[in-house]
Amino acid sequence: MLSEALRWAAASASVAAYGALCAGIWWRERARASAAAADAAALAGQGDAVLMVHASQTGQAESLAWDSARWLHAGGTPVRVVALNALDATTLGQARQAYFIASTYGEGDAPDGASVFVERLMESPTPPTLKQLSYGLLALGDREYANYCGFGRRLDDWLQAQGAQPAFPRIDVDNGAPSALAQWRSRLRPDASEQDLADASPSPDFAPWRLVSREHLNPGSDGGPVFLLGFMPPPGPDPVWEAGDLVQVVVAADPGRPRDYSIASTVHDGELQLIVRQERHPDGSLGAASGLLTSTLALGDTVAMRLRPHPGFRLSGNEERPLILIGNGTGLAGLRAHLRARVATGKGPNWLLFGERRAAHDFLCRAELEAWRADGTLARLDMVFSRDAEAAQGERLYVQHRLLQQADEMVAWVERGAAIYVCGSLQGMAAGVDGALRQVLGPDRLAALAVEARYRRDVY
Ligand SMILES: Cc1cc2nc3c(=O)[nH]c(=O)nc-3n(C[C@H](O)[C@H](O)[C@H](O)COP(=O)(O)OP(=O)(O)OC[C@H]3O[C@@H](n4cnc5c(N)ncnc54)[C@H](O)[C@@H]3O)c2cc1C
Ligand SMILES: Cc1cc2nc3c(=O)[nH]c(=O)nc-3n(C[C@H](O)[C@H](O)[C@H](O)COP(=O)(O)O)c2cc1C
Repeated sequence: MLSEALRWAAASASVAAYGALCAGIWWRERARASAAAADAAALAGQGDAVLMVHASQTGQAESLAWDSARWLHAGGTPVRVVALNALDATTLGQARQAYFIASTYGEGDAPDGASVFVERLMESPTPPTLKQLSYGLLALGDREYANYCGFGRRLDDWLQAQGAQPAFPRIDVDNGAPSALAQWRSRLRPDASEQDLADASPSPDFAPWRLVSREHLNPGSDGGPVFLLGFMPPPGPDPVWEAGDLVQVVVAADPGRPRDYSIASTVHDGELQLIVRQERHPDGSLGAASGLLTSTLALGDTVAMRLRPHPGFRLSGNEERPLILIGNGTGLAGLRAHLRARVATGKGPNWLLFGERRAAHDFLCRAELEAWRADGTLARLDMVFSRDAEAAQGERLYVQHRLLQQADEMVAWVERGAAIYVCGSLQGMAAGVDGALRQVLGPDRLAALAVEARYRRDVY
């Protein structure tokens, strides 16, 4: 179980990163660029507005909340977009109409964007009375998980237990199913014309990206092979993304479920790069998306991808701060994008703590990391090789152990204003790092960092 303090990161980042959110909207809907920014400004700060509340992990609920707010606003309803974690009992207790868009993460758990709300309100012995509240709820999920839309269902039950009235039955969305989203839009504006509804349906913005390079990063590893992949954009306007963002890849064999990958390069690098581990199923077959990217797809062939803003893992607001970047395995992708962006801006200092199995085979992007250490881009580089440690001292050591060994340095960096970014495995690494940070900094300080958006995660 992840600690509550850790789970604040993405949520509070979203709350703080209003500018980034506007940028995200602009970026996803380039055709309506200036209108979107104007909308976003108009939507904010309306006292008697309907609430559009999002609880998100990787940004989909958040992005849908802004889309939905714009849709309501276009129909003449004033809307205020707010993160669930930013909602207090008083605001909710006074609201008459609210819409909630909530995802589920982990194994039926609340996403980072809901953790504070869960702790402070849903698990409170004295929850607010919500008899005045009429609400709608869109639950995002994936039927492949045992606890489908688990957090959305929990939130729905809780709202009703406090006396709130559903304006319509909860709508569950399996993998962004367009039919469920169309149903949601027509519930928000029952009077909208067929034409308005058709215009509001986002077109699938997947486009063909061309694979131009594929480098095996860990030959001889006992772990799954990891590749650095380079892609050139489809014809048309130059794509725009920020360090911290994701791409989604569509697999023809599994059209219902795009896979997310953390972008490992910046827009200035001239190509979009990913770091992908090839999955192999127990029956020997390759993972659908990772197999396509790392094996089946030939150099020069195209794959359907789309860029996806991840406001909760961008730098936004932390540009001037020292950065502590922590991760393992393919988590290097998101951290590398941030480091490449730091090279471009010359900002620092930067400290990378990175874990893999063996230095001889798994030192991903070694030349680049060592060059950054040598030229000062990395003020500190802590590589932690678990199997080497085991061979040397009989014990597997991970990044969280190194973090504990470096406790004084960590505290000193945080006191100098550092922000902490964690990218990689949700199980094991992210939970272990969370525990170590709590131990080193104390739970209250870690919670405060999360609220200040100085603790952000891209974990999966
Ligand atoms: C926010 C986010 C960021 C991510 N970033 C990265 C990244 O930077 N790099 C990266 O490599 N990955 C990343 N991932 C993971 C990535 O999205 C995929 O989940 C991963 O590549 C596996 O997808 P796949 O289609 O290859 O595997 P799938 O075919 O979906 O298989 C995945 C697992 O499902 C099970 N399974 C599925 N089908 C079968 C079957 N027929 N028989 C038995 N078992 C089966 C197995 O346990 C298998 O290992 C990220 C995920 C998220 C959510
Ligand atoms: C690591 C991980 C765990 C997930 N766990 C669940 C789950 O237990 N139940 C479910 O219905 N969906 C689950 N999902 C699917 C997400 O809820 C779904 O992708 C959602 O659209 C994400 O929205 P967000 O970007 O706003 O967080 C999971 C997704 C990931 C990546």
